[in-house]
Amino acid sequence: MPLTTTTEMFRKAYENGYALGSFNVNNMEIIQGIVQAGQKLNAPLILQVSKSARTYAGHAYLVKLVEAAVETTGLPIALHLDHGPDFETCKSCIDGGFSSVMIDGSHLNYEENVALTRRVVEYAHAHGVTVEGELGQLAGVEDDVRVSAEDASYTKPEQVQDFVGRTGVDSLAIAIGTSHGAFKFKPGTKPQLRFDILEEVGRRLPGFPIVLHGASAVPQEFVAEINRCGGAMDDAIGIPEDMLRRAASMAVCKINIDSDLRLAMTAALRKHLAENPGHFDPRQYLTPARAAIQAMVEHKIERVLGCGGKA
Ligand code: G3H
Ligand code: 13P
Ligand code: ZN
Repeated sequence: MPLTTTTEMFRKAYENGYALGSFNVNNMEIIQGIVQAGQKLNAPLILQVSKSARTYAGHAYLVKLVEAAVETTGLPIALHLDHGPDFETCKSCIDGGFSSVMIDGSHLNYEENVALTRRVVEYAHAHGVTVEGELGQLAGVEDDVRVSAEDASYTKPEQVQDFVGRTGVDSLAIAIGTSHGAFKFKPGTKPQLRFDILEEVGRRLPGFPIVLHGASAVPQEFVAEINRCGGAMDDAIGIPEDMLRRAASMAVCKINIDSDLRLAMTAALRKHLAENPGHFDPRQYLTPARAAIQAMVEHKIERVLGCGGKA
């Protein structure tokens, strides 16, 4: 069974008011934890790989692991490049078996973003691969790029029809106040998302799938557990899950989650090693770490995404 493209996944998600989870993967245990959750809840999945994940694990290892996930479960699974930085990286993923890519030209000026995105779309569509573009800029850290809150910018709804029309993208990531990483809001401030922008974008692009990056909720119990077991993660604040659920019921069809998986895995690892100082077999500490990933993804599917039973 081949990898799935996102076209049909997004059509069903849009029509039925749910979203797909797009989970960042770097190694076998993360992939297995996510896929076990998808299998248990019969949920379609997007597994996404950043440039630095490709550098860390190697393209071929990640593709083969995701192919193994498809073969073992029979679930609809898309393999997606997260934050493709340039044409060459997108081309390499398209040529190398991915079913979806993101070209992130959000840091470029508008016309440069259009031109780069259009170039990737032409190549991707000729190879049966779908493309996500981005308009507006999120705050936070991704790969080596750090965007400060001051430099972040909300998506301008008046640009989205022109951008989608001229580039031919299959989905669009927008900036409405989410941000990458675990430190999304200043302590003491109230997390807020610009639902007015999402509504206006949805009105201007009826039926078109919107993507939300930086959508981890940063559960405080995981932060506390990490701190209790020797970590230092003060002031980590995420997006309230009610807001994400609301976005999923609107035009948002893909919600990107990485930090919450990192937190779940790190909390489980730290706890296991703190309670079992004699353990040195990786299988001993990676078993609870993988189970923590699974539990987190099950929680997201049921509480935030609403895609359980939709495989
Ligand atoms: O948006 C970025 C993702 O969280 C991936 O992060 O570049 O550290 O793999 P990474
Ligand atoms: P988080 O850091 O909120 O998990 O966002 C991940 C993301 O947007 C990956 O593209
Ligand atoms: Zn992102």
